Amino acid sequence: MNAPEPLLRLSGINTFYGLIHILQDVEIEVGVGELVSLLGGNASGKSTTLKTILGIVRPRTGAVTFDGEDVTGRSTSHRIGRGMAIVPENRRLFGPMTVLENLEMGAYLNRDGTGRKADFERIYSLFPLVYERRSQLAGTLSGGEQQMVAMGRALMSHPKLLLMDEPSMGLAPVLVERSFEIIQQVHEAGVAMLVVEQNANMALSIADRGYVLSTGRVVLQGKASELIENEDLRKAYLGR
Ligand SMILES: Nc1ncnc2c1ncn2[C@@H]1O[C@H](COP(=O)(O)OP(=O)(O)OP(=O)(O)O)[C@@H](O)[C@H]1O
Ligand SMILES: [Mg+2]
Repeated sequence: MNAPEPLLRLSGINTFYGLIHILQDVEIEVGVGELVSLLGGNASGKSTTLKTILGIVRPRTGAVTFDGEDVTGRSTSHRIGRGMAIVPENRRLFGPMTVLENLEMGAYLNRDGTGRKADFERIYSLFPLVYERRSQLAGTLSGGEQQMVAMGRALMSHPKLLLMDEPSMGLAPVLVERSFEIIQQVHEAGVAMLVVEQNANMALSIADRGYVLSTGRVVLQGKASELIENEDLRKAYLGR
């Protein structure tokens, strides 16, 4: 069930790149502490949706409200300061910096005043491998290791909402599973998440609810347990 007032609400969102109309009348909600997956094929507008939420891209019409505030006209840094964090597509770590330095970049914005030491300990207990690799240059990590560092970095700011863009991309099957286990762990720790995925089965298996985008429109939505059974899902998925 949704909380009465969702943590995040996109209403009537229309986003353009130049003349090209990408997101069309998009309505998406994420409740407090909820795990929502955003599915869809290539170029369906998934990353554009995350960019619209963060204010990297501005919608032509519609509103983004977050934690009781209309943030539609606010900057990306304001939104991050209010409690959004992102694990971007392809992780985007600072390659020439060590793992530790990457985590520190995420901690510059410590929202609830807990000590930095406690933050590092929390990340290291969630991802023991990150601790082992803390002195290694991020650019030399494997894809799966980079995924963990990117999640750790995002969690250093104690976000209320974590946006993830295709966490399973480029990972071997065993690491995909591990990465979804970690997502579930972070969710259980109380962080709301909007997870963009093409791996529909995996994403829905851990989500509370899901949305399916096709050419910039939400064509299906519902409880994850119901979507997973949905015959149209496959069809919608193939839509471009
Ligand atoms: N900066 C941009 N300028 C012009 N067009 C863009 C820009 N960014 C994205 N697009 C176009 O918008 C459409 C949606 O892109 P988006 O990145 O949101 O898709 P996606 O669902 O994340 O796809 P993928 O699964 O491949 O990452 C695509 O056709 C893309 O080419
Ligand atoms: Mg994308």
